[in-house]
Amino acid sequence: MSIIEAKNITKIFGTGHTAVKAIDDVSLRVERGDIILVMGPSGSGKTTLISMLGTLMRPTGGTIWINGEDISEMPAAKLANLRLHQLGFMFQSFDLLSALTAQQNAAIPLMTVGLPKKQALKKAKELLEKLRLGDRLDNLPKNLSGGEKQRVAVARALANEPAVILADEPTANLDSKTGHEVMELLCNTACSEGRAVIIVSHDARLRDVAKRVIIIEDGRLVKEEMGNHAANCPMEHGRQKT
Ligand SMILES: Nc1ncnc2c1ncn2[C@@H]1O[C@H](COP(=O)(O)OP(=O)(O)O)[C@@H](O)[C@H]1O
Ligand SMILES: [Mg+2]
Repeated sequence: MSIIEAKNITKIFGTGHTAVKAIDDVSLRVERGDIILVMGPSGSGKTTLISMLGTLMRPTGGTIWINGEDISEMPAAKLANLRLHQLGFMFQSFDLLSALTAQQNAAIPLMTVGLPKKQALKKAKELLEKLRLGDRLDNLPKNLSGGEKQRVAVARALANEPAVILADEPTANLDSKTGHEVMELLCNTACSEGRAVIIVSHDARLRDVAKRVIIIEDGRLVKEEMGNHAANCPMEHGRQKT
């Protein structure tokens, strides 16, 4: 079973002569271990697509299943629960809480799902160490570099062991080299743990970390290409490598 399956989804904003078809009949399956880069011109519908896949926005037409369940049928509380446990989000701005340390920021989603503070902080620490931030645990965001902040955001997105991490322009505020490094770290970590990653980006260099590259134009999925992901990751399109 696919983690996410979208079938013939469309999204129309507005009505009448001002209506905009932001997504036009897109179908897509996301499998365990997938690393999907979504590329396309500004205004082509990338944010709309990833928002719908992440349950943050409802399609106007078509169906989205997460772990086989039609999300349009789900009550709001169940949907919120799904978001909390199955999905991890990363956005362009690092949106870390400025009064909290790196470790506390990474622990937020764990406390949100009810893990006691001590355990949440312990797990956040382990994650940050894995992301090579072991010596930055007590730093406030203002005392972290852009790349370090984004790695804290990676830790936060991974914290609840989500099935899918959705990232919208996560490297937009980083220089190209740093952005590439952070995404490589995210993808290798997620992939080695059997999670899927969907990244929206303008940065063609991220083709190197992706397994699949999806091109969106005018709301339509116009083509899919292979990425250059060459890592040591044990998952290959939903199957365990032997
Ligand atoms: N909330 C909204 N209301 C009306 N139009 C919107 C809204 N969000 C996006 N759009 C329009 O939908 C199209 C796709 O937008 P978006 O998904 O943000 O594109 P991208 O992320 O590729 O730049 C654009 O024409 C945009 O103006
Ligand atoms: Mg966008």
